[in-house]
Amino acid sequence: MILNYLLEICYLIGSVSFIAGLKLMGHPKTARKGNLIGAVGMTIAILGTIFLHPNFQPLIIALIFAAIGLGTIVGWVTAKRVPMTKMPELVSLFNGMGGACAALISIIEFYHSQHNGTDASATNIGTTIAILGGMIIGSVSFSGSIIAFLKLNGTMKKPIRLPSYNILNIIILGLTFVLAVYFAIANSSFVMLLLVFAFALIYGIMLTIPIGGADMPVVISLLNSFTGLAAAFGGFLYDNKIMLTGGILVGSAGTLLTLAMCKAMNRPLSNVIFGAFGGGGAAEGTETKGTIKDISASDLAVLLAYSKKVVIVPGYGLAVAQAQHAIKELEDLLESKGVEVKYAIHPVAGRMPGHMNVLLAEANVSYDKLVEMEEINPEFEQTDVVLVVGANDVVNPAAKTDPSSPIYGMPILEVDKAKHIVVNKRSMSAGYAGIDNLLFYNPKCSMYFGDAKKALTDLIAEIKNL
Ligand code: TAP
Repeated sequence: MILNYLLEICYLIGSVSFIAGLKLMGHPKTARKGNLIGAVGMTIAILGTIFLHPNFQPLIIALIFAAIGLGTIVGWVTAKRVPMTKMPELVSLFNGMGGACAALISIIEFYHSQHNGTDASATNIGTTIAILGGMIIGSVSFSGSIIAFLKLNGTMKKPIRLPSYNILNIIILGLTFVLAVYFAIANSSFVMLLLVFAFALIYGIMLTIPIGGADMPVVISLLNSFTGLAAAFGGFLYDNKIMLTGGILVGSAGTLLTLAMCKAMNRPLSNVIFGAFGGGGAAEGTETKGTIKDISASDLAVLLAYSKKVVIVPGYGLAVAQAQHAIKELEDLLESKGVEVKYAIHPVAGRMPGHMNVLLAEANVSYDKLVEMEEINPEFEQTDVVLVVGANDVVNPAAKTDPSSPIYGMPILEVDKAKHIVVNKRSMSAGYAGIDNLLFYNPKCSMYFGDAKKALTDLIAEIKNL
């Protein structure tokens, strides 16, 4: 009895630490601490379950520790090695594992209920719903996340769009539900459960294959919320408070994040899931929109060094080039010359939420210098030079001026209001949305071509020579 109370206290500590950790993760300064607090809470809950649970035999405990050890090594090594631009890939893989666990829990619990001589649907409809909910949602999340992983690591290069894929997907989803209901009310056999499992796996694959690679972060976040929901069903199944709390927190955080990303791109979630957008193709329309002029490193060095205020717009290209340290060096150098430097952070710059904040924090850029879009937009008029580094869509004026553009309505950084605009990228290629950017033809705009890291290094050398 006393062990049970102690176990409940461990779960309570775990639940509270999840909530506190999540709150701290809301700001880059406290995010590490938040992550640590959540991890400590989880460790307490796991150790509590292993040592305070009445039914655990030494062999089972040994097996659990072997699995934890193996998982820790694989997780640690992978997380240490992965670069920031590949983070969505890692998240999708880890998320897929969470979904798979939730699905396996359901299958194993049904097996147990059958081998205990009871029939899941006959004993308790609530248990059956929890088994089916955890299994279906967990399986969709697992297979969907694996496809997302394959897309992001380049194994699956192009979206696969079967004829009438949206209708096909609705049919598969419908069949999954029909089979699940049939299982719950008429035929609670193991074979029937596996059939529902197979359909859910297929639905996860079909849901994800048509979606453009660059939309994957939104889909991963959605699948993440599915995994949370599936884990919450596991919490119902075991009457386990910490699984329930953790699952609900992951589910709601994933949902909020998905909606925040969609809002920042001004695209409804239905458009991400059902609309074939963002395949990452070449720029549409090749006709010339004016002339472009380029600027040399030495001219740019003079322009920047004699400015009063410079705003840097970091984008996906900065992350790919790993130019965060170079940009910080440029910032320090300009500040030593009396230039005020700020960073304009678009909510979906890069390939995942907070991408730029984390990247720049890695190079010790002060948080106070990172200014959100709503706050920086009114400042562009008083800015001498905007230096756009590897960003494209987030500064594309078509979002405001061209109703036929796929990004029309997406809030952008209004860099065209600045006195001078300089864009660093390697070529005139399009960004993620695959569309031309009229900003580059703006008479106030100069192109500074080259890989971000190399280009910034050259620029720094020129400024030092002034
Ligand atoms: P993008 O529009 O994708 O543009 C990035 C630009 O970086 C490209 O035009 C590319 O041009 C340039 N580039 C690539 N490698 C480079 C390098 N080594 N050095 C210098 N430049 C390089 O990026 P963005 O402006 O950050 O916008 C993000 C886009 O992703 C938005 O459309 C957004 O909706 C979408 N998206 C974001 C998220 C999140 S949550 N962040 C999620 C889903 C979708 P070159 O090839 O000519 O160099």
